[in-house]
Amino acid sequence: MENQLKIPKHIAFIMDGNGRWASQRGLSRSEGHKQGAEALKRVVEACAERGIEVVSIYALSCENWAKRPQAEIKFLFSLITQTAKKELRQYAELGYRVRFSGDLTQLPKSTQNAIRKVFDASKNNTGMLVNIALNYGSRQEITRAVNKILQAGMREIDEQMLEDCLYTAGLPSLDLLVRSSGEKRLSNFMLWQCAYSELMFIDKYWPDFDKNTLTEILEEYSKRDRRFGGVK
Ligand code: IPE
Ligand code: IPE
Ligand code: MG
Repeated sequence: MENQLKIPKHIAFIMDGNGRWASQRGLSRSEGHKQGAEALKRVVEACAERGIEVVSIYALSCENWAKRPQAEIKFLFSLITQTAKKELRQYAELGYRVRFSGDLTQLPKSTQNAIRKVFDASKNNTGMLVNIALNYGSRQEITRAVNKILQAGMREIDEQMLEDCLYTAGLPSLDLLVRSSGEKRLSNFMLWQCAYSELMFIDKYWPDFDKNTLTEILEEYSKRDRRFGGVK
């Protein structure tokens, strides 16, 4: 199996279950998020080893920001800022490109500065692209794209124009979307991009994801028969 694995060009992860992972162990939700950040490192490294071109990560939704307690959001921003300063900076040094999707203008200034630095430091690299969705919502993304087109004076749109105004413009189409924690929903992530993606829902909580989990995911993906509306 190992040498027959099909490798998606573009894989996305909805990192879910940090809170439940922590509460199962009598730990705080913050500890769950910290361990989630560790899992992210393992999974990104494993994706690079597999030669995946683009990894999209759902790190924080617009809805999380609007609906979660202030203290949790504050913790998440400090974790994201720290991660940007440390791990993401290392990614830039390893030759990966790091990009961010979502309404970044609303983020705390310290987070904005940290992510801008990582983006700038990595933008001329040619390695794997790590696309991190922060304060992201797919409906917001699509609405923003339509507004961009209207502002350019267009009165009618086609699919390509819309695609070109999404955060994922220019990226290979999304081959595989993986969600951890057993929930079977998209929670406003990449609705347009998922049109023909393979969907995979894994029962494990995100902090338990590692290199072997990625191998299992790729084994399952390799068995899928993608037809895109055609016949075999
Ligand atoms: C995912 O874990 C991380 C974010 C949404 C930021 P959760 O925090 O949603 O964990 P559960 O779903 O409550 O277990
Ligand atoms: C989706 O997880 C958002 C991220 C992983 C960033 P949620 O935990 O917010 O999703 P719901 O609330 O269960 O749909
Ligand atoms: Mg959740």
